[in-house]
Amino acid sequence: MSIKTVVIPVAGMGTRFLPATKVISKEMLPILDKPLLHYAIEEAKSIGIKNFIFVTNINNRFPILYLSRNIRLEKHLEQKSNTKVLKAIKSLTIQSKNIKLVLQKNPLGLGDAVLRTKKYIRDDDFAVLLPDDLILGKNCLKELVAVYNKKKSSVIGSMHVNKNEVNKYGIIKGDILNSKTIKVSELVEKPTHKNAPSNLAIVGRYILKNSIFKYLSKINKGSGNEIQLTDAISLSAKYENVFSFRFTGKRYDCGSKLGFLKAQIASALIDPELKKNIRIELNKLYYESK
Ligand code: UTP
Repeated sequence: MSIKTVVIPVAGMGTRFLPATKVISKEMLPILDKPLLHYAIEEAKSIGIKNFIFVTNINNRFPILYLSRNIRLEKHLEQKSNTKVLKAIKSLTIQSKNIKLVLQKNPLGLGDAVLRTKKYIRDDDFAVLLPDDLILGKNCLKELVAVYNKKKSSVIGSMHVNKNEVNKYGIIKGDILNSKTIKVSELVEKPTHKNAPSNLAIVGRYILKNSIFKYLSKINKGSGNEIQLTDAISLSAKYENVFSFRFTGKRYDCGSKLGFLKAQIASALIDPELKKNIRIELNKLYYESK
């Protein structure tokens, strides 16, 4: 069975980006000319995902607005014969029957957000993608789906982090199968440096077996007093196979200011129109600030 549905949780408050996120939500912040949401949709669409489920709060209707047609804008671009941009704008549209909004009034945690999508997912396995984890270079979901197809099990995206940063992530314990794949035995949410079972961290990409709903409904509030998806996956690993895969691309934590800035610069450095000038400008800025 192939993965046809992605859950994109966007109900968080984005407090680290206030005051910008007082009005627009975090996934609408742009990296160059595309919002984070756009990168997420492209990553999912390009592996054949058809159904998009957004978990949103009461104020956030941006995903629907961004993915619907804007006839006025299309007419304007037609009149200006701006066919390249027109094509790009149209290609982003997703039919409304393939978009579902699920309300999460209060940010009770990622686990709570995913649990709320059960009625739309029914019996299928599905992907979860956090748009503020931008992964450039290679399609991460594609890599995870390839492992899922072989193992018929849940697969989570992972990467190595510095030992002094383990307290910011869900950390993986398990048996090494090869240089990229681990058979997970336990996940620990935001452990202290001392208690961390490894420095292999979970990032915002998951392929989940449908059974995750059973585990999500069994767990209690965890770290940060939130229902943690990590805890439900960890519980599932006691009864079923769960794998982690160290993806190839480079991940930018666009939920933090530093990660967001790094993503801007990295994107500019590979952008055909910008890459030459950005090097010159960065050098100038660096020497001027000394
Ligand atoms: P974060 O943990 O980064 O939280 O969520 P946040 O609220 O967006 O940001 P800060 O920490 O206040 O700055 C990671 C992703 O999970 C979603 C967020 O919208 C974001 O896409 N999320 C988080 C939910 O949808 N619901 C939640 O209860 C928590």
